Amino acid sequence: MAKKPVAVITGASEGIGHGLAVKLASEGYVCVLAARNEENLRKTADRVSDAGGEYVVAPVDITKEAEVERLFRQATKAGDLALMVNNAGIATFKAVEEITLEEWQSMLDVNLTGAFLCTREAVKLMKKTRSGHIVFINSFSGKRALSWGGGYSATKYGLRGLADTVRIEVRKSNIKVTSVFPGSVDTSWWDKFDYDFPRDQMVTVDNVVQAIWATVSQEGRSVIEEIDLRQVGGDF
Ligand SMILES: NC(=O)c1ccc[n+]([C@@H]2O[C@H](COP(=O)([O-])OP(=O)(O)OC[C@H]3O[C@@H](n4cnc5c(N)ncnc54)[C@H](OP(=O)(O)O)[C@@H]3O)[C@@H](O)[C@H]2O)c1
Repeated sequence: MAKKPVAVITGASEGIGHGLAVKLASEGYVCVLAARNEENLRKTADRVSDAGGEYVVAPVDITKEAEVERLFRQATKAGDLALMVNNAGIATFKAVEEITLEEWQSMLDVNLTGAFLCTREAVKLMKKTRSGHIVFINSFSGKRALSWGGGYSATKYGLRGLADTVRIEVRKSNIKVTSVFPGSVDTSWWDKFDYDFPRDQMVTVDNVVQAIWATVSQEGRSVIEEIDLRQVGGDF
């Protein structure tokens, strides 16, 4: 029997990563569930299991080079890497003069350096099989600046630059690259902030998962390179 394709999903312990892992598992991927909080990863694993899927629970801090290298060794043991989803992300929303160096550095470390480390390992593996797909979960803030988003937007603009560069470098190796730019999504992300945004008007995790699946499930030579996903009523 053919081995199942492997998907590494960072930030699989919550929100978009959690929902995406359940969908990919139901579509036949072995999901490597990557994030720091092992207890929450096990909750995702339970849902993956309920969907009849296979998984590897892989606690990792993606800002640590050695931990990311270990993550991809774990993925290799599960089979051929078909999909890498750079989803883990953090934000501090403040006016630029109020952002501490520590907050700035943390956003750069997770949103940009973490994605770089994971992408580097994924490209090495995918080049060997001359196949694969790398998805970057960016943000509307990666295309348009918003007040209080100085540090976050800077990392997401940078992530867009990384994705666009990688796409050019790997297309000759038959590796696909997609960036997804969602507006506000109703996830636990918003529990961390003292904002009163109407959660019931936000895009849902299911909406984002459907959009990602639309590109991941493209067959043959086709790839959807960018997805802008916003609520019909506009952003806040
Ligand atoms: N929610 C929105 O409105 C929205 C809109 C546009 C774009 N996005 C983007 O979508 C992505 C996912 O967001 P979400 O809404 O699902 O957020 P979330 O519910 O807060 O989940 C964030 C995930 O990132 C993981 N993470 C954070 N630091 C990490 C680290 N150092 N190493 C490994 N994993 C780490 C967290 O896991 P641990 O804490 O367990 O490590 C968690 O699983 C982010 O990149 C975000 O920028 C979100």
